[in-house]
Amino acid sequence: MTETRDPITAGDLLVGKAASSGASELKTQRVAVLVSGSGTNLQSLIDTWALQPKRAQLSLVLSNRPGIFALERAATANIPSCVLDHTKFGSRTAFDEALHEALESHQIDFIVLAGFMRILSPDFLTRWPGKIINIHPSLLPAYRGLNTHARALADGQKEHGCSIHWVEPELDAGPIIAQAKIDINHAETAEQLQQRVQRLEHMLYPLALHTILSSWELSPSQPVSSLDTRLGAITENELQKRYNDWRHPEAL
Ligand code: GRF
Repeated sequence: MTETRDPITAGDLLVGKAASSGASELKTQRVAVLVSGSGTNLQSLIDTWALQPKRAQLSLVLSNRPGIFALERAATANIPSCVLDHTKFGSRTAFDEALHEALESHQIDFIVLAGFMRILSPDFLTRWPGKIINIHPSLLPAYRGLNTHARALADGQKEHGCSIHWVEPELDAGPIIAQAKIDINHAETAEQLQQRVQRLEHMLYPLALHTILSSWELSPSQPVSSLDTRLGAITENELQKRYNDWRHPEAL
């Protein structure tokens, strides 16, 4: 491969690279997905999990809300789940302490936020350095926070999309790992735009997570955040092609 800037290439996605690096002695990396809602991103991770590095396991789905559909998705996929209802905790510190304990008790190594609607405290984040990623529905640094689709439409933006980034104390502001974009159609509603962005999310998140875990498997002693996992914003067509190549490598 001649591309060196972009880590998500067919070459990088060869899990076999890990086998030849002596990685067979490594411990299985246990991944937790934190959710607060429907869990369509969780579903995309479940659906592609068999393609993840062999030493990574989807080991826990943790929700801060009882009764959400993401928990049913976890049950259907036989993934252990846990609910920490944030309304039952007196403070953010108390909630974050319970969250840390739950993750520790499930021996979690890596955390994926997938629609998790809680701000994590700096104290919590320092206990999981370089181990937490998030997906956000905008082309960060534009449109941090909520209602990103309506805001992008209202501002007359030409492009919109989604970003995967490392989680740091400042909201939606950690280093960007991967982005995908689409052209905005100004005849569409915010809901329609959201659905189109979610199509991107469901390809980009599994693909980026796979790349991170593959890199990690090759360099287990390095903090993940120091690895070059930057992708740059790619178009929907390019993302679809990479996703198809990844899911169906025999078609390459
Ligand atoms: C996604 O749009 C994601 O970008 C944002 O929260 C939403 C979660 O959706 N962080 P779902 O629960 O995965 O369907």
